[in-house]
Amino acid sequence: MNGNDFEGRVVLITGAATGIGRATAIAFARRGAKVAIGDVDDRAQETVELVQQAGGEAVFFKTDVTSPEQLKSLVEKTVEKFGGLHHAFNNAGVLNNPTKFVDIEEGTFDKVMAVDVKGVFFAVKHELEYMIANGGGTIVNTASVAGIIADPNMAPYVTAKHAVTGLTKAAAIDHAQDGIRVNAVAPGLTETPMTQMWKDNPEVWSEVVSNVPMGRAAKPEEIAEVVVFLSSDAASFCNGYVYAADGGQVAH
Ligand SMILES: NC(=O)c1ccc[n+]([C@@H]2O[C@H](COP(=O)([O-])OP(=O)(O)OC[C@H]3O[C@@H](n4cnc5c(N)ncnc54)[C@H](O)[C@@H]3O)[C@@H](O)[C@H]2O)c1
Repeated sequence: MNGNDFEGRVVLITGAATGIGRATAIAFARRGAKVAIGDVDDRAQETVELVQQAGGEAVFFKTDVTSPEQLKSLVEKTVEKFGGLHHAFNNAGVLNNPTKFVDIEEGTFDKVMAVDVKGVFFAVKHELEYMIANGGGTIVNTASVAGIIADPNMAPYVTAKHAVTGLTKAAAIDHAQDGIRVNAVAPGLTETPMTQMWKDNPEVWSEVVSNVPMGRAAKPEEIAEVVVFLSSDAASFCNGYVYAADGGQVAH
């Protein structure tokens, strides 16, 4: 890929206030894309400023992905602002507090499913509506290694991320003929605000890092590069699959 592969393209990213989404917003902008961000967290405005510092263009629309209406409006506002929508990265997500399966309460299950499953499902639906009518596009969803294998004490998150891998495949086969590719990225352990609580505890951190054959966590920029690749024309025959960037964890 050269430096301006995404010139003239518009990318919508959810969950880009921090972490992987922020790094991906900057990675797309560096290649010429205009970036629209949907997030509940106002730190998304800092991401907009970082994109601008990198010479790009971005806008933040406050959006709670648990609301299909807000996701529909996010697509509409993106198109209104930048004149189109070519690529989407549905990345917003939350973890449950580590708890054994038997002790999971309904409220915890519902909260994780609302953000990690319903939030991705309806983002994909509304992005598809626009892309089908406007010549196609690409969609990447954030799954996880927890969408391929199970992590201990993370049952709602594991359930939700397996659902993301399923909905990614379902959308990909239903809309391949519409010129739309739908894939998922499955990050392994990545240094972001989501994992900071583990990093703050050296014992926990060394245990989670020990699950990674490469012996370290990813930087968010390493996940962003996979998302950019899957969205690019270089990935023109990649469709309906989940691509791990996990330092070898699921191969272990
Ligand atoms: N960090 C890891 O080790 C890791 C590993 C595998 C998968 N993931 C996944 O990567 C994605 C990004 O996580 P991250 O690690 O960058 O953490 P993060 O906490 O920095 O990013 C999560 C983003 O989602 C946003 N968000 C949460 N709830 C939302 C809602 N209801 N509406 C809109 N936005 C909402 C947050 O504000 C934040 O910007 C998540 O889907 C996460 O599950 C992370």
